Amino acid sequence: MDGIKLINFNVFDNGSNGRLTPLEGGIDIPFEINRIYYITQVQKGVRRGFHSHKELQQVLICLHGSVKIMVKTPVAEQVIDLNSLTLGLYIGPMIWREMYDFSPEAVLLVLASRHYDESDYIRDYLEYNKFANKYFGLEE
Ligand code: TYD
Repeated sequence: MDGIKLINFNVFDNGSNGRLTPLEGGIDIPFEINRIYYITQVQKGVRRGFHSHKELQQVLICLHGSVKIMVKTPVAEQVIDLNSLTLGLYIGPMIWREMYDFSPEAVLLVLASRHYDESDYIRDYLEYNKFANKYFGLEE
């Protein structure tokens, strides 16, 4: 699906000394990182997200447990199961996303290209659809 991609990170496996995964902005992550946040303690049955961003780019990594991410545009929809320390989900601008099925004690890390800005959010799906049709060059 256009606008998203899965990124497999490099792992330095040092046997019993453990594993190390480096994430460098502009190299492993396809933008300079300006903000990091993490989502924890999401109860069973809870669904979050329900928004798109006008310009923000993000990479989501599930550091512990698992979570499903539904990504959607006016022409495509996909569900990604995030359950690996070495897998990142890149989400570009103008992609609707919903996060659900958080396993108990799941830790979802998010790397973001910009500082928090509420005016970058589109939280209404009908409004999203209108903007997205223009953004993706589709007829309304
Ligand atoms: P929100 O983006 O609505 O969460 P989600 O889409 O995952 O359900 O954010 C929840 C609250 O946290 C909201 O009041 C805004 C605040 N917030 C920040 O202050 N800074 C941030 O970087 C983020 C992502 C959210």
